[in-house]
Amino acid sequence: MARSPLVVGMGGSLRTPSTSLTALCVAVEGAAEAGADTQVIDLKRLDLPLYTSEQGIPPSARRLADAVQAADALLWSSPTYHGSVSGAFKNAVDWLALLADHDPPYLSNKPVGMLTTAGGVQGLQAINAMEFIVRSLRGWAVPLVFAVPRSSRVFDGDGRLTDQAVADQLRGLGAEVTRAARQFWAEGTCDYAQERPSGAVLD
Ligand SMILES: Cc1cc2nc3c(=O)[nH]c(=O)nc-3n(C[C@H](O)[C@H](O)[C@H](O)COP(=O)(O)O)c2cc1C
Repeated sequence: MARSPLVVGMGGSLRTPSTSLTALCVAVEGAAEAGADTQVIDLKRLDLPLYTSEQGIPPSARRLADAVQAADALLWSSPTYHGSVSGAFKNAVDWLALLADHDPPYLSNKPVGMLTTAGGVQGLQAINAMEFIVRSLRGWAVPLVFAVPRSSRVFDGDGRLTDQAVADQLRGLGAEVTRAARQFWAEGTCDYAQERPSGAVLD
């Protein structure tokens, strides 16, 4: 392998400080420790407009799509909002429609690690929502996921993570995504489009 895998983290809320952004950065650190080159896309700073296909392509959406396209693997982090991902997070993935015409399209051959921070204990609902999105975009959901429960107990008022065990698990997720990216390289792609079993549904 001539280069390191590029792991791109995408997420955070529009709140400052954002626990889901902190958690994402810790997971991305884990990817870097596992040997990946890394990049974090903070959705608050990116400041995407609401998705529409009718008013040209805003530069922020083009930057997002280009960064995702360049990634060998992704880490996604949204706060849990009302039993799902946040609207801001969903809006960001809607802009990945810009990758529809790429060859291969969308997130083909990219493993995606998913995490969320939740006020309560139902964060898996946001993870489940992300998993549906990953599959619809032809990505590969990494089996290891992490929903950080009761976020106010493990992040301080400045959004810093204060629980070492949670930090270790987030770093582990980053390492796992890096491992998955390397595995895809070792095996070539996992592009099954040519040999799809009859009856398989992609969307
Ligand atoms: C609009 C809204 C909806 C929320 N819905 C849920 C929810 O359904 N379940 C839950 O456990 N926490 C919920 N929360 C709490 C957030 O998940 C929690 O505070 C999280 O840490 C926020 O992430 P952030 O710090 O990145 O903004 C909600 C918070 C907001 C603002």
